[in-house]
Amino acid sequence: PETGCLSIVVLGASGDLAKKKTFPALYHLFLQGFLPSEEVHIFGYARTKISDDELRNRIRGYLITDKSASTEHLDNVTKFLELVKYVSGSYDSEEGFQLLDKEIAKHELSKNSVEGSSRRLFYLALPPSVYPSVCKMIRHNCMNKSDLGGWTRIVVEKPFGKDLESAEQLSSQIGQLFDEPQIYRIDHYLGKELVQNLLVLRFANRFFLPLWNRDNIDNVQIVFREDFGTEGRGGYFDEYGIIRDIIQNHLLQVLCLVAMEKPVSLKPEHIRDEKVKVLQSVLPIKDEEVVLGQYEAYRDDPTVPDHSNTPTFATVVLRIHNERWEGVPFILKAGKALNSRKAEIRVQFKDVPGDIFKCMASDLQNSGKKQGRNEFVIRLQPSEAMYMKLTVKQPGLEMLTVQSELDLSYRQRYQGVTIPEAYERLILDTIRGDQQHFVRRDELKAAWEIFTPLLHRIDDGEKKPLPYKPGSRGPEAADELLAKAGYVQTHGYIWIPPTL
Ligand code: BG6
Repeated sequence: PETGCLSIVVLGASGDLAKKKTFPALYHLFLQGFLPSEEVHIFGYARTKISDDELRNRIRGYLITDKSASTEHLDNVTKFLELVKYVSGSYDSEEGFQLLDKEIAKHELSKNSVEGSSRRLFYLALPPSVYPSVCKMIRHNCMNKSDLGGWTRIVVEKPFGKDLESAEQLSSQIGQLFDEPQIYRIDHYLGKELVQNLLVLRFANRFFLPLWNRDNIDNVQIVFREDFGTEGRGGYFDEYGIIRDIIQNHLLQVLCLVAMEKPVSLKPEHIRDEKVKVLQSVLPIKDEEVVLGQYEAYRDDPTVPDHSNTPTFATVVLRIHNERWEGVPFILKAGKALNSRKAEIRVQFKDVPGDIFKCMASDLQNSGKKQGRNEFVIRLQPSEAMYMKLTVKQPGLEMLTVQSELDLSYRQRYQGVTIPEAYERLILDTIRGDQQHFVRRDELKAAWEIFTPLLHRIDDGEKKPLPYKPGSRGPEAADELLAKAGYVQTHGYIWIPPTL
């Protein structure tokens, strides 16, 4: 591994993303010894004129949330905050970035006991509108000192544009300043434990290899539900809507990993090559395979326009035109202000042919007509788990069948193991130079190609969301679409995560 000075610069240091995600992730990396104080310095950069201590105090509030924090925790936070320095400046002024460069260089010189290179990581916790100017400033003023070697990398986060055209424009502006290996486009879903597990599951298990195709799988659902609305973020959200906020990035990334062919190797480029192929095989979305919704109180938010047409819920069926998946609907569903909070992948298998047990299903399920289908469910959150729904003989004297499950619940199976936060893992990857879990430029483009026509129709007001009650399942039409796409619900069965 590389050694030498590592300067991590968080631009937009006083914003929400930085305080809630970036600094806490850095703190956890520090605690685990990944950011040794003899090598690392962290710089916050933003426009507000505040002192180092003011920034530290703001961050402290997010690292110590518990009044009864132990002295050890308090000491660790203090040690971590000693690494943090603040520089103020605007996002488009040479002076600000020259000052930043000076501070970084000072740190690099002061650590002359450490042999090695100059590594500079710029984390843009900023709105994308300033990406081009910030990237230009970094490129012109803050690159790593070449005599020391090392690297300069930038980390950016969605929204990468609003449609194909604006995304491509942003990509080419950044692409003129930085090479692809220097650009880390974060999609934090790729940092989740069970998303990272997908390739292992699919390609290291004989169980799945022969079954993972159109001959056996009837439909796939990738679902994101939140039980709260857009409180406090209405202004941002209304411009983007649920498709840009969740589906075009988070759910589509998961779809790629579920549907892709086996990569040549685990090299990041091999994996990303396969993901791009999946995206390029997606057929244009059909109007009748989309249901949009907007929860009823959404427009009461003062930051949301009274006549907003923005969907807060969407179910969209994608069809992958290739040998493995032709005819299998991939149903992407996301919604805010619903009745529960969870994210999961649900792979539903076809009915068993020539079923000889069909009259034996216990009365609760499907009124004794048909067996419930096998389903393989990957629960991304909360309570990470994988379970396989299967039919077994109901224990007892009668010959009845019932749906049950093989359950791998992480909390139970991996007791005492802490599952790292997505951002923690991804930031560590950026330091190590591993781009496997980041979105490549051509991948981003292909993702926008899929959704842009639909998004334009919504933006133009041609396609309207249906109202739904906050705290409900979303519009009924979405369940009808699900059934039409082929999903069969097993009545009377529900999976209950085991309690310890
Ligand atoms: C963000 C979206 O990318 O993901 C938010 O902008 C959403 O609207 C969040 O709430 C969900 O992330 P997680 O990790 O809580 O599922």
